[in-house]
Amino acid sequence: MSSASVQFLKTRRSQKLVQAPGPSAEQLEQMLAAAVCAPDHSALRAWRFVLIEQKHIGTFADLAIGATRRSGREVTEQKEQNTRKWLSSVPLLIGLAYKISHDNEKVPEIEQTLSMGAAVMNIQNAAHMMGFSTYWSTGLGTYTDEVPEALGLDTLDYRFVGFLAVGTPTVQLPPAQRPDPATLTTTWQP
Ligand SMILES: Cc1cc2nc3c(=O)[nH]c(=O)nc-3n(C[C@H](O)[C@H](O)[C@H](O)COP(=O)(O)O)c2cc1C
Repeated sequence: MSSASVQFLKTRRSQKLVQAPGPSAEQLEQMLAAAVCAPDHSALRAWRFVLIEQKHIGTFADLAIGATRRSGREVTEQKEQNTRKWLSSVPLLIGLAYKISHDNEKVPEIEQTLSMGAAVMNIQNAAHMMGFSTYWSTGLGTYTDEVPEALGLDTLDYRFVGFLAVGTPTVQLPPAQRPDPATLTTTWQP
């Protein structure tokens, strides 16, 4: 990999506030093609992506806010307003889930979860390389049963892991502060 590609990885940062234009059909296809290159023990192909296009995001906001309240979690008026304002400019939301391989002796669920995380990371990096920003959120009713089920994902069979907002960044953010990897790394010596 060239150092320019590594530079792309190093300059990615999440950005919640995104706007149109979102990715074209072809660009989205590229992002999802990157997603399915994630490491995948036993080739489970468990990743699932539910596209919520801009024209349906308002209806989705009604669902997410209502479902969160019906599940017993508080959504204040202010929070509702902020969520609706944020979503009103998001051109694409991707619902993220994986099909659970129950009682898989070879691939414990932690590995299934990690593979899903890697797939999402590949979308985020591919989007960044194409000039888009993304933001992974586990708000919007992620941990209710109602939201994943409304998206066609039976929670007995699928683990729902949130949403990726994808679009054009509204402002150019400065580089994120990142830790020095040396402080997180040791070299084992027997
Ligand atoms: C699985 C997952 C769920 C997340 N959910 C939320 C969330 O609900 N709300 C939030 O503010 N940030 C959430 N984040 C964090 C942001 O997506 C983002 O990673 C964080 O703001 C740091 O930005 P960075 O990706 O540039 O380091 C989540 C991150 C992950 C990995």
